[in-house]
Amino acid sequence: MIFTALPASGPLTGTVRVPGDKSISHRAVLFAAMAEGTSRLTGVLDSADVRSTLAAVTALGAEVEVGRPHGIGLDITVTGWGVEGPHQPDFVIDCGNSGTTCRLLMGVLAPWPVTVTLDGDASLRKRPMRRVTDPLTLMGAGFTTTDGHLPVTIEGGVLRALRYESPVASAQVKTAILLAGLGAEGVTTVIEPAPSRDHTERLLPAFGVGVGCDHATHSCWVDGPEELAARDVTIPADPSSAAFIAGAAVIVPGSDVLLRDVALNPTRTGFLRVLERMGARTETLLEGATGAEPTGVVEITYTPGLHGTVVHAEEVPSLVDEVPLLAVVACSANGVTRFEGVSELRVKESDRLSAIADGLTALGATVRTGDDWLEVEGPERLHSARLSSLGDHRLAMAWAVAALQADGPVEIEDWEAVDVSYPDFARDLASLAAR
Ligand code: S3P
Repeated sequence: MIFTALPASGPLTGTVRVPGDKSISHRAVLFAAMAEGTSRLTGVLDSADVRSTLAAVTALGAEVEVGRPHGIGLDITVTGWGVEGPHQPDFVIDCGNSGTTCRLLMGVLAPWPVTVTLDGDASLRKRPMRRVTDPLTLMGAGFTTTDGHLPVTIEGGVLRALRYESPVASAQVKTAILLAGLGAEGVTTVIEPAPSRDHTERLLPAFGVGVGCDHATHSCWVDGPEELAARDVTIPADPSSAAFIAGAAVIVPGSDVLLRDVALNPTRTGFLRVLERMGARTETLLEGATGAEPTGVVEITYTPGLHGTVVHAEEVPSLVDEVPLLAVVACSANGVTRFEGVSELRVKESDRLSAIADGLTALGATVRTGDDWLEVEGPERLHSARLSSLGDHRLAMAWAVAALQADGPVEIEDWEAVDVSYPDFARDLASLAAR
């Protein structure tokens, strides 16, 4: 589907509650499926990626009842397989576009006597899986991969604990190893080169599992074997989705937008810190916590005279999904915005580094890129163009935000990619413009 995104015709004003957090939704569904008993999950993100996880846990024997969708997502009841373990499915599990579904499932399945084939769409089939299959192989699981990619067949079994120094800061890798560690005898530790998002460490204790953390050394551990007990979980709004609305408000003259109930976990809010460094007027009010996740309101006000900044490699994990949006905002800023240590973007839902460079260049921006860095030079008036999302939800939304500061419409091919994380993005943006 082609979506025609229009330049801003006036300020964006009003309040939005963006959909539930994708990372926390996946974890809540998976942990509930692993647990003994029935968990009630509230405000689960209703999107293609989370539907992949729901279908997967159903195929593996969890009982899932999905309530009628309402304003802020899905209310879901999950009765887990608990100590019985997952059932042997008699078909391939399709993870769709979702790296989180497939990488976390590998850790979930590794300690059980099942043989399961995981597959995904064309984008997911291109993404590296050895970063998870290598450490899980060291723990004793068996894998047959397609040259390190999907389809992957996992043969679970008796695992041994592992102390693993991960070469990448990746919450998916960390979580897969910790979940496998729940089925191994002894302490399984993951040490990361920089801290990645810590939703697993925050949510597992709610399901009755202790997780140790040493923030100084970016390490965390579980002491297996451990069983999960059912738990009710409420999912806060996704900061990565909120970022697109925030970025739009920062660049459209006269805008003033309130984002409600946003997860303000510092391992996810790097984009807010970068926007502030660029001079953006943002106000954050911590209101409390949803489970172990801090939540609150973020107010974003149009800021003239934004300026470039350097985004350092250590802060990239805290904004890894927001680089396309920040690169679009950088087109409105004076001077150079430089992103360092962003090679992970090459193995996301698309090669986001090349895609950002190509897309922004087509829109008339000045962009330079290397193996693991990106520079955007502003300010630049963007022009009308036809771009593709390349099937990548975050690119689709980034191009729609770029259109707001363009001198004509931007046509976005494969717009339906937004269904992966924020199906109603266009509607929410339009509701702010309508006022
Ligand atoms: C995710 C972790 C991130 C992020 C992805 C979701 C998660 O990837 O890009 O959208 O839910 O664990 P890595 O931390 O694995 O790079």
